[in-house]
Amino acid sequence: MQSIDPSAFRLTVAPMMDWTDRHCRYFHRLLSPHARLYTEMVTSAALVRGNQIRLLEHSHEEHPVALQLGGSDPVELAKAAVMGAEAGYDEINLNVGCPSDRVQSGKFGACLMREPALVGECVRAMAGVVDIPVTVKCRIGVDDQDEYADLQRFTTTMIEAGVGILVVHARKAWLEGLSPKENREIPPLDYERVYRLKREFPELTVVINGGITTVEAVREHLGQVDGVMIGRAAYHDPFVLAKLEADLYGTPLPERGEVLERMRIYIEAELARGGQLKHITRHILGLYQGEPGARGFRRQLSEGAHLPGADWGLIEAAMAPLRQAA
Ligand SMILES: Cc1cc2nc3c(=O)[nH]c(=O)nc-3n(C[C@H](O)[C@H](O)[C@H](O)COP(=O)(O)O)c2cc1C
Repeated sequence: MQSIDPSAFRLTVAPMMDWTDRHCRYFHRLLSPHARLYTEMVTSAALVRGNQIRLLEHSHEEHPVALQLGGSDPVELAKAAVMGAEAGYDEINLNVGCPSDRVQSGKFGACLMREPALVGECVRAMAGVVDIPVTVKCRIGVDDQDEYADLQRFTTTMIEAGVGILVVHARKAWLEGLSPKENREIPPLDYERVYRLKREFPELTVVINGGITTVEAVREHLGQVDGVMIGRAAYHDPFVLAKLEADLYGTPLPERGEVLERMRIYIEAELARGGQLKHITRHILGLYQGEPGARGFRRQLSEGAHLPGADWGLIEAAMAPLRQAA
């Protein structure tokens, strides 16, 4: 098993396709200096045969940041892992939890929970060629393989392959009949099963994921496992990351406006290199979630960010009424 400091995994932000791109991660980093961030899933095939530079691009401010890979070919995954490590990522995470059709046809994601030996081979191949941790993100079960014994067997195989950190989405996936979105909502959460895993494999760093949205819930989970992974809540209500940072690490809670001001240099640099404002602002729409004026902020950004010439001034304008209200 790799030697790992479990405290590095206390607070993590989930890999989310189309959401946790580099702009989003930069923003999340400002909200939480300590959270461990994960990229969207990149398939090993896309990396090995595609545009590596674009797929691996990230800012140095994002660290610690993990590259999530999807695939089931040990040779190809090993090549992709080397590319990730050389690009400076802090961890390679293998996706064994995503249930989408596209993913199943390529034989990766949640369907691999049925093939622990193959996942073990993939992990061994990657861990053999990189010095950074190789971790796995899985579900508690898949289809009718949903007994605790199945998860136990999967975990034992992972540990034998050298996995020291397992992220577990605490619900099973139904590979047929449910859409990926339904697979994040319909199968019931079973946190106890993940706690049991930690009790049974105390040396394994266990990170729990699924339906965790509040500081109180995070505190409770951290009494049972090593870390939590927050997905949708961090995206829709990103300020929860600042609240978690304050609670877990004692970092002073910033003003939301201050966080935006700290995005300014980044945004201006991105626009200067030809980026578009809408690609960045889409990730910050939820910053004022639950606050007076949140709807106006969101509307102004959504309506203005795609217009030609949209720049930092739009954000200033969207913030102005909120400053008056404060
Ligand atoms: C839009 C979206 C995209 C996702 N993409 C990925 C992905 O690329 N890789 C992955 O392992 N999980 C992916 N997930 C699942 C999340 O990582 C997480 O396991 C799930 O949302 C449950 O956590 P939550 O309840 O905190 O959101 C995605 C979830 C969402 C909402």
